[in-house]
Amino acid sequence: MEKQKANILRFKEMKQQGKKITMVTTYDFGMMSQVDKTDIDMILVGDSAANTMMGYDGTVQIDLDTMLVFCKAVANAAKHTFMVADMPFMTYEIGPEQAMLNAGRMIREGRADALKLEGGERIANTVAALVKAGIPVMGHIGLTPQSAAQLGGFKVQGKSLQSAKQIVKDALALEQAGAFAIVLEAIPSPVAKIITESVHVPTIGIGAGYNCDGQVLVIHDLLGLFDRYTPKFVKRYANLGEDMQKALNTYASEVRDGVFPDEEHSFSMSQDLVEQLTTELHDDGIL
Ligand code: KIV
Repeated sequence: MEKQKANILRFKEMKQQGKKITMVTTYDFGMMSQVDKTDIDMILVGDSAANTMMGYDGTVQIDLDTMLVFCKAVANAAKHTFMVADMPFMTYEIGPEQAMLNAGRMIREGRADALKLEGGERIANTVAALVKAGIPVMGHIGLTPQSAAQLGGFKVQGKSLQSAKQIVKDALALEQAGAFAIVLEAIPSPVAKIITESVHVPTIGIGAGYNCDGQVLVIHDLLGLFDRYTPKFVKRYANLGEDMQKALNTYASEVRDGVFPDEEHSFSMSQDLVEQLTTELHDDGIL
């Protein structure tokens, strides 16, 4: 049976029914075409494209126009999967007006179904404005990579009493602002449990333990396509990087050995026509 594209009401229902929500990042047409054929409920065109697709060490380098390129490519293949896209660094921090203008482009040009913004209480009024404008918003708290410099690096958040309290307050502020779901990144499982039990919208964990309503992973990490660094919370389900290297080495050696291309992968011409062509090329002085 063909997969039905879910929506924000379905995700809330899944939380109520205790059905886990599954999410991965995706950045291009080819990968999305595969994801769309799976049971994955929702995808994220993450600003982690800065790392996985562009090789930067952080996510702040990616700008709106670049994110739009990835969104457009993914949208062309996301026929049965709900598509969330990250608003990149500094496209919403100035305030609701800036956020609204840029969000409009992400939805209209990028064809995202929903947008994700990093931050809790400090951006709650911006989230509320976007929701009021009819845009589904996903929150993202805990380790927020766009502010990694201010957090002192890519570190687990919410380990102290004060920091854990702030993250709970951030989650409540986002729910109050109308976010339809909240990503909890790199926080202790007990803090994620408290949040998940305190809000009515789904929590999607990444490094936040099994009590969340759903999970998200970066697809390159999950498939073994990114080996520059691997956070503790990543589980690798395949080694596609190694498979790719093997396939490419086989191709290279077959080309070198004259094994590829063979008859099966070539176009033929009748011998008569070949002879006529050769004769005419000489007669016409072309050769
Ligand atoms: O950009 C991204 O990949 C993300 C996930 C880590 C949630 O925001």
